[in-house]
Amino acid sequence: MTVQHNSRTKEPYLRLPEPHTNIIITPHRQNSIDETSSALANILNDPRVALRLQRTPYPYSKSDGEEWAKANCKEQEAMLSNLRKELEEQTNTKLKKHAGNNSRQDGQVFDGCPFTCIREVLKSEPETGHPIEDILIGDIRLARSSFDEFPEGSEERAQAQRQNDELLAGDKNIIWSLADFLAPSHHGKGIMTLAVKTIIHDWAIPRMKVQRLKSWAFEDNEGSMRVFEKNSFLRGCTLKDWAPVSESRGGGKKSIVLMEWAGADDS
Ligand SMILES: CC(C)(COP(=O)(O)OP(=O)(O)OC[C@H]1O[C@@H](n2cnc3c(N)ncnc32)[C@H](O)[C@@H]1OP(=O)(O)O)[C@@H](O)C(=O)NCCC(=O)NCCS
Repeated sequence: MTVQHNSRTKEPYLRLPEPHTNIIITPHRQNSIDETSSALANILNDPRVALRLQRTPYPYSKSDGEEWAKANCKEQEAMLSNLRKELEEQTNTKLKKHAGNNSRQDGQVFDGCPFTCIREVLKSEPETGHPIEDILIGDIRLARSSFDEFPEGSEERAQAQRQNDELLAGDKNIIWSLADFLAPSHHGKGIMTLAVKTIIHDWAIPRMKVQRLKSWAFEDNEGSMRVFEKNSFLRGCTLKDWAPVSESRGGGKKSIVLMEWAGADDS
């Protein structure tokens, strides 16, 4: 499946394949900041999620969620406006007639992914199948690498980030990273495995021309490493006692494992 376009709300979104077609990945919604921030506070205050993450605040307040949601809406605005134009042009020229519900994938190259909110659909429109009611259950994001292999706060890390950030959209040398979390109520059902697959195959490859993906997981986070492995990532080096952990999470440093994508061919 590729990008879907909810004709009623004008929201583009991605849908997971079987058996999780009731899960969609949408942009942040300007008109539901309150709902988003409550959901985020619920998920990100749960130690089963919070202790696996390094950078989200913990404890996580509703105002942290509001700030995050607003910043995301702003960041996604330009990408969404371009994507909406593209989808509307396709509708107008009746391309959809031949392409079913799917949009064509030969438009502009995007410098990021506007689909970050993982939602469970509770109610759909009978005629179109588009969601009418859903709840936020997680987050998945593609971003330029933060180069965790260099020490936190170091000039080497800053320089690597600068050089990577300067590369233009679509450049095959850009190193991207994927980060994700899911509400504990939905763990262990195969959802994140398919969410990662969807983001890579329905967006990152066709619309961003992504060729290099590197992510890091805490050494004790077997679930996260399995999700990556099931999407053609290989386990790389381990950096022992490397990533600083906030005092609220117990302090100290944790070991992290590199997960590096082997590319599209064998995924
Ligand atoms: C890690 C996380 C995203 C996994 O999502 P999920 O939807 O539960 O994962 P899936 O159901 O797709 O499971 C994929 C694989 O991981 C395994 N797995 C999942 N959770 C696991 C756990 N806690 N321990 C060991 N294996 C686990 C599954 O058994 C499955 O492997 P298999 O098919 O070989 O049996 C989710 O547990 C989560 O949000 N954790 C907290 C936040 C987090 O860790 N984010 C990643 C930071 S790097």
